[in-house]
Amino acid sequence: MRHAAITGWGMAVPDRVLTNADLERMVETSDEWIVGRTGIKERRIVGPGDSTTSLATAASRLALDRAGITADELDLIIVGTCTPDQFLVSQACLVQAELGGNAGAFDLGAACSGFVYALATGSQFIQSGLYRRVLVVGVDTLTRFVDYADRTTCILFGDGAGAVVLEATDEQRGLLSTVLGADGAGHKHLYIPGWGALVPESAELFPEYRPYLQMNGQEVFRFAVRVMGDAAAEAVEKAGLTFADIDMLIPHQANLRIIDAAARRLDLPRDKVWVNVDRYGNTSAASIPIALCEAEAAGRLHEGANVVFVAFGGGLSWAAGAVRWGTAGVCRDAACRDGSRKPEAGTTGTGEREPGRL
Ligand code: UT7
Repeated sequence: MRHAAITGWGMAVPDRVLTNADLERMVETSDEWIVGRTGIKERRIVGPGDSTTSLATAASRLALDRAGITADELDLIIVGTCTPDQFLVSQACLVQAELGGNAGAFDLGAACSGFVYALATGSQFIQSGLYRRVLVVGVDTLTRFVDYADRTTCILFGDGAGAVVLEATDEQRGLLSTVLGADGAGHKHLYIPGWGALVPESAELFPEYRPYLQMNGQEVFRFAVRVMGDAAAEAVEKAGLTFADIDMLIPHQANLRIIDAAARRLDLPRDKVWVNVDRYGNTSAASIPIALCEAEAAGRLHEGANVVFVAFGGGLSWAAGAVRWGTAGVCRDAACRDGSRKPEAGTTGTGEREPGRL
């Protein structure tokens, strides 16, 4: 059976840092309150030179370099985002304009769950045999839609991008199971009004209208605690694994209390849960691929490691998947890549043995 291995990965965050001390000067809040309720200490926010396109492109270039392929070799680009630079054209086409190539390109909207939804979609294109190489990006610049006078939301969000390259393999690598869900009735608990075709009808109001993110924090918190644990557990079970088989949980980084609740549900010790919400805040669709890049850079992912992704977000939506890390069986030379020769099991396609770690 064909699988979709993750062969490249990359992340990008803006240089500009917004600390809790900065926020103390902007709204009535405190470092103690923010850290105690969320675990967040600082976040990266876009500056005048940054955009959803620039972050997504930077992360994608790193992912392509890591995979050792060019944009010309891609069959498809999928961008999970709820903050595209514009609606016409898609964010994926704007990224492709920077990267080059003529791969199919489209966006996928599932808010903070967007990366896992996009990963599931991209993997399906490869597993079905239709495509061999897919770029999946999770990117958001939600701080462009945050009201920095609203202390209930402005402390939470940061900006960033993460990208992965998926390539076909006959070895059991990449996404082993997928859990996607949504409760559309909960759309009113987390949304950005007026950011779309439904705009205020008054022409007088419109020039001053700014679409700020609206959130019912307590409602989203209760929902998140419930679905994160359940969805992650379902993904583990569907993959035919047990919690003892899991090497790393990479959850959506929204709130440390929500992450801890998910880890408890899976009975995982803290050292098997990747946490970086303290440094980036909630980067929406980018949070899981950013955490993935950091976990890999820290040497926490080895060939054959079992990783669980789990996310929740606006929709309300949720998504989870068990992933087997590594590139076993992925073609690595030209003859193998054009399909005329298959790599031997457990090799890189050039005849070399897969390294113990990527
Ligand atoms: O990707 C999905 C994105 N959204 C989320 O993940 C949000 C999930 N929800 C949460 O993370 C939490 O609900 C929050 C962190 C947003 C809020 O924490 P909470 O423990 O649910 O606080 P709360 O809303 O119950 O507010 C408690 C108190 C209130 O004051 P009173 O009514 O008790 O006097 C708030 O007005 O804290 C007050 N408060 C603040 N105080 C200082 C709210 N925001 C702040 C603030 N600084 N920034």
